[in-house]
Amino acid sequence: MLRQGLILLSDSDLARRIATSAPGAKTVARRFVAGETVEDGITAAGALNRAGFKVTLDYLGESVERREEAQAAADTYLDLIDRIQSEGLDANVSLKLTQMGQDIDDAFLRANVGRVLERARAADMFVRFDMESSRHTQRTIDFFRTAWDEGRTNCGLVLQSYMRRSEEDVRMANRLGARVRLCKGAYREPPEVAYQDKPDVDANFVLLMKLLLAEGNYPGIATHDDAMIRATRAFAEERSIPADAFEFQMLYGVRRDRQNVLRDAGYRVRIYVPFGEAWYPYLMRRMAERPANMYFIVKAVLAESPFSFLVRDGREPG
Ligand code: FDA
Repeated sequence: MLRQGLILLSDSDLARRIATSAPGAKTVARRFVAGETVEDGITAAGALNRAGFKVTLDYLGESVERREEAQAAADTYLDLIDRIQSEGLDANVSLKLTQMGQDIDDAFLRANVGRVLERARAADMFVRFDMESSRHTQRTIDFFRTAWDEGRTNCGLVLQSYMRRSEEDVRMANRLGARVRLCKGAYREPPEVAYQDKPDVDANFVLLMKLLLAEGNYPGIATHDDAMIRATRAFAEERSIPADAFEFQMLYGVRRDRQNVLRDAGYRVRIYVPFGEAWYPYLMRRMAERPANMYFIVKAVLAESPFSFLVRDGREPG
């Protein structure tokens, strides 16, 4: 219930305006978002690289309706790619097609993302297309297929285990040799298209993980769930799949203890580092995944109020 409510709020313009102007809002966001500028993203990526993690940088933004905004987002990605290259970072980029104009028009979207893919290819860099809600799934896959068939093979997809169709999509990506990030899925979806219960989502995750590890091209297993991580490690061991044939991926600020454990055990771990001013919907999806994160919000708001003495214990959610 709370999860559904938080996901609904992530889409609300009014809630966004109230939440982003609330005292303490930026402090809360900083737990999960590296900052607002390219420089902030680059700084966080450098620190993570030095700590032994790979990075994917995401310039926050989605559901963009104005061409100038979508164009500016693509320009920011060009800048980001240049900065990653000049700093010699072990990082690639993740982007959302609705930030690049997917809801505006197809030709415009192609031109905009085409610029990013070209710049990335010149820098020998990979570009991940994040997966959004099911309204965009087919169009995102079609867009990816067109780019791939045109020879732009430095891009890859995200597939979500809550989607009933994902097995087909994983098999298609494996046939192409395309890189897939597997995650559970973060949006509110109807039962016709998506599994609703955690055991079903998890069982499908394990099935898809096995298909990707056995037949795919360098998959990213994106989860903080111990059971999913254990299943992945066990399957890799059973099939003698080397630790450099796949990577684990986790979100910035989420389960840092697990990130360290996997790195120390010799696995590749990539951290998804979001930055930018449009952090509200991203943050609300993180709250929906773990409502205990709400404690963090309450604490940050109280800390800037006359009641700050109530929240001096320094605890933070995992
Ligand atoms: P699950 O939600 O079952 O959580 C397992 C445990 O992990 C929880 O009990 C809790 O301890 C911990 N945990 C999970 N989320 C947490 C949080 N926010 N804060 C604190 N603890 C948390 N989704 C999507 O639809 N499209 C996409 O493109 C992406 N991209 C993406 C990239 C990467 C690198 C990751 C890790 C995730 C995504 N996601 C995503 C989000 C994904 O779909 C999913 O919503 C979250 O990862 C939560 O699912 P888990 O697999 O972590 O398991």
